[in-house]
Formats: sequence, C-alpha cells, structure tokens
Amino acid sequence: METLTIALSKGRILKETLPLLEKAGIQLLENPDTSRKLILDTSDPAVKLVIIRASDVPTYVQYGAADIGIAGKDVLMEHGGDGLYEPLDLNIANCRLMVAGRTEADSGQRRLRVATKYVNVTRDYFAAGGSQVEIIKLYGSMELAPLVGLADIIVDLVDTGNTLKANGLEPMEKIADISSRLIVNKASMKMKHAKVQGFIDTLTTIVNPA
Ligand code: ATP
Ligand code: PRP
Repeated sequence: METLTIALSKGRILKETLPLLEKAGIQLLENPDTSRKLILDTSDPAVKLVIIRASDVPTYVQYGAADIGIAGKDVLMEHGGDGLYEPLDLNIANCRLMVAGRTEADSGQRRLRVATKYVNVTRDYFAAGGSQVEIIKLYGSMELAPLVGLADIIVDLVDTGNTLKANGLEPMEKIADISSRLIVNKASMKMKHAKVQGFIDTLTTIVNPA
C-alpha cells in the first residue's frame, strides 16, 4: 500500500492542524498529548504522522523522510526552499516576524547586537537595509536578551504583543507576515502524484471553501 507520511510539530501546529485533518477524514488513533510515540497512526491506514521539532520539519520533507509537512513560514524562510514545494497557505498559527526592542536602545559606536533564532533571515534583512549588525543566535526566550544586556534588539515572532509588553519591549519593524504552510517533497510529488495531489486538493477546499 502506498503511504503518505506527514511531518508536523507538537503544540500549536498540531493543535491547529488536527481539525483540518479531521475535516479531511483523518483522525489520530491515540492522544498525541500523552503518547510518547513519534510515529502516530491515523484512521486512514495509508496516512502516518511523524511528530518532530518545528524547525526540523523542512529537513525531513526535503530529504523525503516525510512526503508532506506543515511548517511556519518563519521556519521555511530560515531553512530555504531546496527540495520543497510550498503549495498551500493553511492560514493557521498566524503571527508576524518582527524586530523589537526598547525604544531608547542605543548601541553608541558599536554595531547593533540582534538576538534571534532566525539568523539567516536576520542577516539578510539588515543587509538589505544596509546595516551591519552583530547577530547572537538563541534557541528561545529572545525577549530576555535586551533586558539583561545580551543584545540591543531582537528578531522574533509577535502575535498578541503580550510577551513584548510584559518585558517592556516595543514592536519596531515588521519583517514578514507568518502563517503555516503545507510543504511537499519534490520527488514525492512525482512518484506519489495522485495521492499527494489528492491530499493537497482536499486541504485546499477545506482551507479556502468556494
Ligand atoms: P522549536 O521546537 O523548533 O523550537 P517552537 O518551540 O518555536 O519550535 P512553536 O512555539 O510550537 O514551536 O511554534 C511553531 C510555529 O508556530 C512557529 O514556527 C510559528 O510559525 C508559529 N507561532 C509561534 N509562536 C506563535 C504565536 N505566538 N502565535 C501564532 N503563531 C505562532
Ligand atoms: C512565541 C514567540 C513569542 C510569543 C509571541 O513564543 O516566540 O515569544 O510566542 O506571542 P505574543 O505576541 O502573543 O505574546 P512561544 O511559542 O515560545 O510561546 P507561547 O507558547 O507562549 O506562545
């Protein structure tokens, strides 16, 4: 039997994807919140979910370890699009990728220090604006960096703005609007065309009803 393997991350993306999959007739057979399994069976014997870190999803799909993935545009911008198609905006996990900091931030003579987990996007964004910045790679809690003098500003996701506000930071510039996207391995698109295209078409109708 030809199977489809779909890669996604626990938390926000899984939570917002499950209702879409249910509308497509695909239900999980066990509770992902309590299961320690990394490959989850679904009500469709031909569809399996693999649960991985959000930032690993493009890698699994690029190498064909998963046929399809669901990943934030932030993660896709940072990873680059090699080996991937991005056929559908799922319009879930919506937020913005922003530059933020204290409004009075002033690095004096030295280069501005920017803390982020999006080092590639940040480098390209400031280079395009003609500024030379020093980038400090972090894996989370970027909002802390300006408070403890690790960085002058940050590049991070903003939704409600509550995290920035709670830490005395202000949104400064928007780099991109972010939502989660369906991504597809280029070889799977050819080799499993009917199955992959069928899945894309079903989700397209669910996300954008006529
Ligand atoms: P990793 O495990 O790789 O560090 P993560 O902890 O950032 O990933 P999540 O917080 O679940 O994973 O975020 C997954 C995706 O959801 C992000 O890549 C982004 O596209 C989106 N997202 C993150 N934070 C928000 C938010 N506050 N509001 C809406 N969408 C968000
Ligand atoms: C994300 C992001 C910000 C926060 C922004 O963090 O890295 O810190 O959400 O959301 P807000 O503007 O609504 O405050 P993360 O996913 O780690 O935290 P969360 O689960 O609290 O959203």
